[in-house]
This record gives sequence, structure tokens and C-alpha cells, in this order.
Amino acid sequence: MTVADVFHELYGRAAEGVWAAPGRVNLIGEHTDYNDGFVMPFALPHTTLAAAGHRDDGVLRLHSGSPDVPGEVVELPLAELAPGRADGWADYPAGVVWALRDAGYPVGGADLHFASTVPHGAGLSSSAALEVATALALSDLYGLGIERGELAVLCRRAENAYVGAPTGIMDQTASACCTSGHALFLDTRDLSQRQVPFDLAAHGLRLLVVDTRVKHAHSDGEYGKRRAGCEAGAAALDVPALRDVPYAELPAALARLEDPEVRRLVRHVVTENERVERTIALLSSASDVRAIGPVLTEGHASLRDDFRVSCPELDLVVDTALAAGALGARMTGGGFGGSAIVLTEEAAVATVTSSIDKAFASAGYPAPRVFPAVPSQGAHRVS
Ligand code: GLA
Repeated sequence: MTVADVFHELYGRAAEGVWAAPGRVNLIGEHTDYNDGFVMPFALPHTTLAAAGHRDDGVLRLHSGSPDVPGEVVELPLAELAPGRADGWADYPAGVVWALRDAGYPVGGADLHFASTVPHGAGLSSSAALEVATALALSDLYGLGIERGELAVLCRRAENAYVGAPTGIMDQTASACCTSGHALFLDTRDLSQRQVPFDLAAHGLRLLVVDTRVKHAHSDGEYGKRRAGCEAGAAALDVPALRDVPYAELPAALARLEDPEVRRLVRHVVTENERVERTIALLSSASDVRAIGPVLTEGHASLRDDFRVSCPELDLVVDTALAAGALGARMTGGGFGGSAIVLTEEAAVATVTSSIDKAFASAGYPAPRVFPAVPSQGAHRVS
């Protein structure tokens, strides 16, 4: 059954359209987005589909086809949408409707049914895909024509203010704005963007995503603690955000910080921004794309040792992939589980994959899910 068929069965009428929004991986630039820094994600081919129709009675009805959530339709009067409600998965789309209305957009009721191929809890932005699919569907249904960058900002507001997760702007922007064949260079301070051609296949390369199946979550507070530590670092250095600490001045900045934990967080953010700039320079010049491999691996070491958001399973993917001949590897996304990315020669994909499988089996970890990632299209209307 298609999502439109399920919609018809659930709501007894035809959907007015179907919209898709993808998950993402981040190539480089981790935990920089809430420090006004640089990120470089690209969209996955995995998407969340939303079949939708508008309603005139001020009611929002939501249904998810995901096996991870209860199967009933969640019914919410628009007048009752408010931050702090706890309707489980439905908080994401409901939060988007709230954010659109709170920003003054004349959004009324709607029926929505979602189905997703974005792995849930794998650090691949299934939440952002759900938010952006909802936002684009409503923008189109109500003829609002909201520009993509603004859609992302509204979706982040839903996640921060309504769901209560203190995330940055990267995931929503990636889902809303990425284009196929490109990574998206985003300056999270002024939200300026550049599409950077990223066609690994043309160079005989592959980027593998390795989902460790360790469920990551932001709600346990570790993400928020890192964010607060970064803000403390910026305050101690008397700058608006860590973005404002130039790489060349890092040693002097570190010398001014007393708290060793804050010093490590600052060192990660400042060096990570420099790694994004180095990656952009390598991808934009005639130099060999392979040169980005060691930059990715450096980023992992910094996330593991300084930012401390890795976990044994992610470290095992990186170490095993490199030992099996990969060009570079790192965790991607928020960390504490989730997924890693591995840059490898196409010819080495089988060896790298089987080495990771074997290493996980010997460590007694559940088998990881490994798949190649091709930079794909951002959110769009399907029908
Ligand atoms: C999560 C958040 C993003 C970003 C990354 C870390 O994916 O949603 O905003 O902070 O973690 O780079």
C-alpha cells in the first residue's frame, strides 16, 4: 500500500498531496552549529513521506506507519497546541504546526499520515525529516510559499521550544535545503549556504554509513551539558560564540581557561570549524578528494577525546575501518551512539564492511547496519 492508500483508509478521503523530506549525514562540522560555526551535511536517499489533506474544523490528526510507535491516530485541537505537551512522536509534527501558527502563518487543521525509511534513533535526523515533511506539506496545503531556510528555522523552533530538545539548525536545514550530488556548506551564524559538488563515485570512492544500532538520544541531558559548557567557554573568553575564537588564537584562548573540561570543549569547536574550512578548500580545489579522509579521522579523535560524545561501538567502527584500509572515518551527528561514516575506495568496500561486521561479532555487539550514502535531494513534493 502507498502512503496515499493508507491515508485514504485512515481518513476516508483522498490525500491532497504527498511530500518527502530526507534524513542526513554530516560530512564534517560536529557540535559547531550551536556555536555559530560551520557544518557540511548532505541528504540521504532515505525519506519521511507525509500524505496530507487540510481540514476546516481546527483539528490536527496525525498517524505514523512506523512500527516503533503506537498505531492509533492522534487527534489534537489546534487551540490546545502548546509547548510542554507530551504526545510522544506526535510532538514533532504538532510542534511544527504550533511554530508556524506562532510565527503568524494562517495554518488551519490537517490530516497527516507519515511513513519513513530514515532509521530511527540512528543519528540520521529522523526527527528533522518528520518536521520538515510536515512543514513543507502545510506550507503547500495552505499556499504559504515559505522559503526553505525559513522552514528549517521554524522546524528548529518546534524541536527547541515545543519538543524541548536544545539542538542547533543543521539537521532541519539539511533536510530542507540539500540538493542531490552536493554537500551543503552552511554558516550557522548568518545561515548563508553554498552547495558544494560532492560526487565520490566519479573518483572511485564510496561513503559508507555504519549504524551501530546503539540508540542515541538527546533527552538524557549530555547534549545540553556540552552546549552549556560551550556557552560557558564563550562567556569566559568574552566572545558572543565560540565561532569568534580564531584558530590562530586558540593556544592563547586555551591558556585563559581554567576549567579543563571547558578547555577541551573549546578546543574541539575551534579545531572543528577549521576542519570544515580545510574540507571545503580540498573539495573546491583540484586536489585529490582522498585528502579529506585524514581530516574526517582527526574530527573523530577530537569528538572522542575532547568533546567526549563517542562510544565504544563508534570507536570500533572507526578503528576497524581504518585498519582495513579506509581513507577516513568518524562518528556523525550528535553522538552517544548512532552512526559513523567511512570514506573508502570503491574496491575496498567489501573488505571494510566485512571487517566491521567481524569486529562487532567478536566484541559481542549486535550486527551494525552498513549502507552506501549518495548525496540526495532535499525535501520536495512527490505528488
Ligand atoms: C544533533 C543536533 C544538531 C547538531 C548535531 C551535532 O544532530 O540536532 O543540531 O548539533 O547533533 O553536530
